[in-house]
Order: sequence, then C-alpha cells, then structure tokens
Amino acid sequence: MVARAPCASIGRVNAGSDIPWWRDAVVYQVYPRAFQDSDGDGEGDLRGVAARLDHVRDLGCDAVWLSPVYPSPMADGGYDVADYEDIDPRFGTLDDAGALIAAAHERGLRLLMDVVPCHTSIEHRWFRDEPERYVWADGDDPPNNWLSAFGGQAWSKDSQTGRWYLHSFYPEQPDLDWRRADVRAAVGASLRFWLQRGVDGFRLDAIDRLLKDPELRDDPPASAPPPLPELGEAGTLEHVHSRNAPDIGIALEALRDAVGDETLLVGEVYVPASQLAPYLEHVDCAFAFELLHAPWRAAACRAAIAAALDPAGAAGRIAWVLSNHDFPRLPDRVGARNARAAALLALTLPGAVFVYQGDEIGMADGPGGDPPHDRAGRDRHRHPMRWDDEAPHGGFTSARATPWLPAIEVDGGGVAQQSVDADSVLGLYRDLIAARRTLGAGLTFVDGSDEGVLAYRRGDRHVVAINMSDEPRAAPPAGRIVRATHSARHPQGSAAPAELQPGEAFLAGI
Ligand code: GLC
Ligand code: MG
Repeated sequence: MVARAPCASIGRVNAGSDIPWWRDAVVYQVYPRAFQDSDGDGEGDLRGVAARLDHVRDLGCDAVWLSPVYPSPMADGGYDVADYEDIDPRFGTLDDAGALIAAAHERGLRLLMDVVPCHTSIEHRWFRDEPERYVWADGDDPPNNWLSAFGGQAWSKDSQTGRWYLHSFYPEQPDLDWRRADVRAAVGASLRFWLQRGVDGFRLDAIDRLLKDPELRDDPPASAPPPLPELGEAGTLEHVHSRNAPDIGIALEALRDAVGDETLLVGEVYVPASQLAPYLEHVDCAFAFELLHAPWRAAACRAAIAAALDPAGAAGRIAWVLSNHDFPRLPDRVGARNARAAALLALTLPGAVFVYQGDEIGMADGPGGDPPHDRAGRDRHRHPMRWDDEAPHGGFTSARATPWLPAIEVDGGGVAQQSVDADSVLGLYRDLIAARRTLGAGLTFVDGSDEGVLAYRRGDRHVVAINMSDEPRAAPPAGRIVRATHSARHPQGSAAPAELQPGEAFLAGI
C-alpha cells in the first residue's frame, strides 16, 4: 500500500511540489449505481461508495470520479439530470454526499463530480418553467439534418407546444442553449454549489456539444470514416455544424470562471487530440479517445499515443483512459489475453490516467439487462462490481435484494479472492500504480522493435515492451523486471526476457 498522509483540505498541488496534483494522477471512475449497495434496494449508493473507499486507496489511486448521482429519471443512466444541486434518493442525500467527500479526503483521495452541462433531463423544471434556456425551432419539419449520438434525428417535437427542441443525445435530454448568459450563470452556480461542499474538480460531460452553429446549418455528408467511432447513422454526416463550434471558448470560460483556477476540470471532448486546443485553453486536461478506440496493434496504438503527446498539441494535458461506462470493457475490446497488457500500457503512459471500476480485477462485459436499461446497449459494461465470490451477488448487495443488473462472475475472482493472489490482475494494478510514481518524465518510442511490439522508454531508467501480436516476438533489450503482466513467469527483479509471448508485456529497468 502507498503511504499517504490524510488531508482534511486538499489543495492544488501535492505537498512539497509545485506540480498540479492531477498531472500524473490515477483517477478511479465509480459508476455509483453498480459499485456497492448499502441499503438492500439492489442499487449502488453513496454510502456504499464510502464503505468501499479503502479499496480505492489501497489500489494507490489519487482521486475518485463519480458518475452522476443527481436526481434523474435515468433515461441515460443519470446523464439526464433533473436537478444539478441535489442527490437522487436512490443514491442517498446531500448529507451522504458530504460524508463521502469527507471520507475521501480523510484517505487522501480527491473527489470529482460529473457535470452534464450540454443538456438536462426533459423532467428538469427549466424545460417547462424556463423553456427559453433550450434550443428550439419552429416549422413542420426539423430545421436541419442533425443527428443524435444514439441514432435518429437530433430534433423532437414537444407535444405541449408543437415546437422542435434539439437533443444531441436521447430525446429525454434536451440541449441547453449555451449562447445564453443565464444558462452559463445557472450551471456555473451549480458547480460552485458542489465546490462549497468540498469537491476537488469536475469531469465535464460531452463538452464538444455545448456550442453549435447559431445558424443551424446542415451538416454535410461524411467524405471519410469519422475520426472517432460513431453509433449507427451518426457516422454518415460530418458534424461540422452540430458540434465543436469554433467559439466554444464562450461556454468554457464561464465554467472556468465559476470554479476558479484551483479546481480540476477534465473535459470529455469527443474529438481527436489534434483538435483539443480550444478546449485546453480553459479545461486542465481532456481524455485521449484515439487510444481508447485504437485497434490492439502496435502501429495503431503508437500513432494514437504520439498524437496525444504531440508537443505542439495536447502534450501534458491528456488524461489516458482505456475504458469507461460507455464502451466495451477491456477483455471484450482488446481480447481477454491482452487485458493485462492493456493495463500495463495505460499505467505506464506519462500523465493522468483514469481506471474504470472493475478493470482492476479484469471484469469483462456481461449480458446486460432484460429488459435493457440503456437503449444504446451499454448495460453490458455496467454490471455490479465483484467484491467477493463468497458473498451473495458478489458482495454488491444483500442476499434478499435483486440487483438492478445481475452480478456476474469474474475470471480470477472478486476483490477478496484477488487480494490474496500475488499473480492476480488486482496485484498487477496495485504494483503498476505504485511503480508509475518512480518513472521519469517523458516518453520516447524505441525504434527497431519487432513488428507487433510496442516499446517505449520512460525517463532514462525504464523501458516498456508490449507484445500486441498473436505470436511470440523479440523484446527490446532491457535490464531487470520492475513488473511484468505475468509475474509468475517474469518475477520482479528477474532479467527481462528476450522474447514476449502474445499478451505479455513488461516494465523494466534499462
Ligand atoms: C457522455 C457520457 C455518456 C452519456 C452522454 C450524454 O458521453 O459518458 O454516458 O450518455 O455523455 O450525456
Ligand atoms: Mg441502494
């Protein structure tokens, strides 16, 4: 376990350093509904999160990002917010949130809330009481050809007024009009509401959709495959007018001004790293989605990493992420054999990294819900956290409860089982998170490696090699193993192997 002093108030920098705390942080993503149920209703809640914080601390993480816990009809798993300044009863109360923030700080963990500024739930009172805060159009037909991220047109008719409203996501999520000062002020005030309750930062949801073309011009047909994967027909258009407006700074400046410079703002910006500059003028860092989506091949991953580390671009301002509640889990995306190597990749890259709950035990996708909760098919990535194979529902909820999504088994067992198994995936995450704190600055690719092997130096004392191919491949020269994906075969301190099997990777001295 990494020793860390408890801190009641946590500042912008780590003690004894002038580097912002998040610069090399490991942030643990909690999807609260599926983390830990404390009251036996079959749904995870804030008291449950608080009860499991020691797990996050023992993993060696620096912070927790909580996916939304606000009042919500749950048309989009809580990303349809009906009140930015309260807690949904299924998750608890504002007092529970305060207790969770305090419990995190006692353990030296910072806490990030998820802010969903692009849209509210259609059940937010603003939609009826302050309708001018949303984007509307009149006429028999929708005003343009814009498409929703989940398929279908991005405009729906409000049955009460007969007018069209814009929704970049589900029809239950009307888009706010961020060109309006009252919208900027109202959401900014909500961020301050949470700051006053002690949160340390925010993950800003879908901010590439905050501002659109004020003239509502049609998106042109796509002339090439989208730069990042799109669902269904959304990929048939080039989203030059419906997203990513050039004057995005108006919106982001308001969010930054609301929280001041000390508060971490992490942007979920669904654009390639080369287009992040206008966002990074106001937010501290942004997720690197090219690597998340890169096929598990050395050349593709190298290109995605290089794009994110471009010194003329987003270098130093990237948050690495290989999975979250929206996309297939690692064993499903990169293949079960490569899931350990994916962890070694993510945790040895320079900069902040986000780990999605369950990744640290190698959780795979499950069957999802029947009937589904999420119409876009993302239940499969959201099954309850597996704490203990010996406990009912894997320790997620009480024996008598029916979990909202079924508990699924994990190869290698739950947290309790993996904690006492030195060669478990959990052991790998713990060791890598500890080891990454010793890595020097910067990343230099090692050229001349065997095709199919991704290799890079970290600082001037460490080298990483990952066999991404389906065959045994020569590893670059290296010294002693710091941590390998398979510690039984390549124990700490042993000479780095000359050959890597498929799915094998190591962090070693030079
Ligand atoms: C983000 C969230 C996703 C949600 C969408 C709309 O991409 O991660 O879960 O559906 O925004 O809020
Ligand atoms: Mg509960």
